[in-house]
Amino acid sequence: MSKEIVVSGIRSTGNLHLGNYFGAIQNYIKMQEEYTCYFFVADYHSLTTHPDPAQLRPNVFKVLAENIACGLDPERVTLYVQSDVPEIPELYLMLNMLSYKGELEKTASFKEKARKQPDNVNAGLLTYPTLMAADILIHKAKYVPVGKDQEQHLEMTRNFANRFNHRYGETFPEPYPFNFGKSLVKIPSLDGTGKMSKSENEHATLYLCDEDDLIRKKVMKAKTDQGPTEPNSTMPDYIVNLFDLMKLVSSEEVVQQFLNNYNDCTIRYGDMKKQLAEDMVTFIRPIREKTLALQQDTASLNRIMLSGREKARESAAKTLSEARKKMGINFYT
Ligand code: ADP
Ligand code: TRP
Repeated sequence: MSKEIVVSGIRSTGNLHLGNYFGAIQNYIKMQEEYTCYFFVADYHSLTTHPDPAQLRPNVFKVLAENIACGLDPERVTLYVQSDVPEIPELYLMLNMLSYKGELEKTASFKEKARKQPDNVNAGLLTYPTLMAADILIHKAKYVPVGKDQEQHLEMTRNFANRFNHRYGETFPEPYPFNFGKSLVKIPSLDGTGKMSKSENEHATLYLCDEDDLIRKKVMKAKTDQGPTEPNSTMPDYIVNLFDLMKLVSSEEVVQQFLNNYNDCTIRYGDMKKQLAEDMVTFIRPIREKTLALQQDTASLNRIMLSGREKARESAAKTLSEARKKMGINFYT
């Protein structure tokens, strides 16, 4: 039986962080065993915010190295760069005719970006969900491992796929967001004011390339208070966040011990943060070291990219040729 198809992408806009790891990459690694996986660096999507070319290029290599350092096996999955597969922008162009201005303008991510960069509300930003749909539909994916922030984009992908199918005949399956067993995750920032992110909140985000001491410094700065005064009292959000982060990297016994301390009002947040910092260091250090080694080896990275490009284009060309035929733009038999 053929395996089910999975697609996911990460933008090359900065350093990968714990949110990317637990929201996306952790699932990629588990999925590579049982599914046919296409994972890519979304460099075209990065262009919507006009990155400096001198930074974009090394970032693409870095995202690839970081994914491999986290445990992605390029022998088992197709790992490629979005701009290496011209079939994607071609399908994007077709899907643009099925994407309506009204729905694009209503997308939460567009509204947020338009507010943040009022001088650069470009058409690429508006049609960001259409390009993302092309990324997914080009391989006829069924599952898309992403964090919670991508749910609306996936819903739009299903709308575009259904519209295409309705107008031109059954072509694309409906893709769904995927997370092993649990609901989609959102990793909070250390200051409790939002999510960890590549481009914002840098002091409150733990990056997979952070040095040990920087990790310790960031964790120790996380917001706390005097501690509870009543047994079993409700936790403020920023303390819930600390426990949530601890659950990601510390052992169950350690988490339980601090929970007990919280409930009987003996908790010392300084000790909790020290423990969390050490467990974060233990988690991040091997990924950072492996990434650095891989980044030096550009010959291997280039080989991986070229082989990924070949496999991705093979699958993409099949879908594109079917879509063209369905639309009546196939002229040579
Ligand atoms: P960022 O938002 O940091 O720029 P991307 O948009 O490139 O990162 O996201 C890549 C993947 O990581 C997506 O699947 C996204 O849902 C996931 N992701 C990003 N930040 C978080 C977070 N704080 N918690 C959970 N998942 C996240
Ligand atoms: N929009 C995604 C993000 O910001 C990145 C992305 C682009 C993506 N194309 C995709 C994710 C296709 C999954 C599938 O995180």
